[in-house]
Amino acid sequence: MKVGIPKETVAGERRVALVPEVVGRLVKAGHEVVVEGDAGVEAGFPNDAYTAVGASLGDAWAADVVCKVQKPGPAEVGKMREATALVGMLQAATNADLVRQLAQRRVTAFSLELLPRITRAQPMDVLSSQATVAGYKAALLAADTAPRFFPMLVTAAGTLPPARVLVLGAGVAGLQAIATARRLGAIVSGFDVRPAVKEQVESLGAKFLAMADQVEAEGAGGYAKELSADQHRRELEFLARSVKDADVVITTAAIPGKRAPILVTRSGVEGMRPGSVVVDLAAETGGNCELTQAGTTLEHHGVTILGPVNLPATLPLHASQMYARNVASFLNHLVKEGKLQLDFTDEITQATCVTHDGKVLKP
Ligand code: NAI
Repeated sequence: MKVGIPKETVAGERRVALVPEVVGRLVKAGHEVVVEGDAGVEAGFPNDAYTAVGASLGDAWAADVVCKVQKPGPAEVGKMREATALVGMLQAATNADLVRQLAQRRVTAFSLELLPRITRAQPMDVLSSQATVAGYKAALLAADTAPRFFPMLVTAAGTLPPARVLVLGAGVAGLQAIATARRLGAIVSGFDVRPAVKEQVESLGAKFLAMADQVEAEGAGGYAKELSADQHRRELEFLARSVKDADVVITTAAIPGKRAPILVTRSGVEGMRPGSVVVDLAAETGGNCELTQAGTTLEHHGVTILGPVNLPATLPLHASQMYARNVASFLNHLVKEGKLQLDFTDEITQATCVTHDGKVLKP
């Protein structure tokens, strides 16, 4: 099987779909790997790191399986050949035109963000691996933006109290933000509508904020459900005091396929002390803070609000390494006797395959 690794073309994207370590394993397993020149260079993997493990440089689109990070743009779709497989974070649910075009070109496309969060699929879970990066980076951005230290410092110039960090949403990104802020010495509290995460938050040395009348919104597959209007109102009332007291609020609350829930309102921001910081990881899906603007840093009443997008691309070496291992596990799952053999009764294949044999499988 011939595996192709094109260079990513989206502005600011520095990751690469497969790194030399993984390519070496594919080559040893008998596959041919073709890398587009400089595909890995921005992630820290120059061309010779790929050729050293047996890959060749050339036209990565002329392959049986093309591995990407971002969804392909129109020019890239134009390079895809009939019966080629495409693996990447295609964001199929919100890109109907792309999915149609891939079907027209008879590409077999796999949209990795659709992987089910089941035990078997954990090694392939690109959302988790990339959210780990985002959570880590969110805490670093907050520490870099805040006008104060995160740790408590006892100095000759007096004692400085630690920063108080509040993390809303304790999924993968939230837990990593908690862990990172703790390592930097902040006093951290976390909140989530899935009470199951209380233990995880506490195991990281943070305090779990529990509502007296806890909202429970555990949905399918370890994700949260949308709250009712009444539950949401109660949540906002409960969080208001903690938001006001925090030096830093990092928000990561998400519900698959929905707009991000608002957890920090305009008046909530106006109640925070000047110099406080909000880092909103949900910026791309509407924001957890009412004032967030995706891709922008703004100031309101002395509070700095960051709405970063594509944070994983800012840590491209490890983000690529984790992504590549996810992709390799996924390929391993699909490849039998040296080539792709699709079993549409399998939950993982069914959930991720969006086009096959000229058809759109997920309208
Ligand atoms: P996840 O699904 O693992 O976690 C989201 C958490 O939010 C869940 O624990 C869920 O229970 C919680 N939640 C949902 N509704 C809530 C509410 N009303 N109140 C409190 N908690 C609530 O998602 P993951 O993988 O941790 O990603 C988190 C967010 O970070 C997502 O919005 C994702 O798109 C975003 N993200 C942003 C990146 C960036 O560069 N800005 C990169 C990667 C992820």
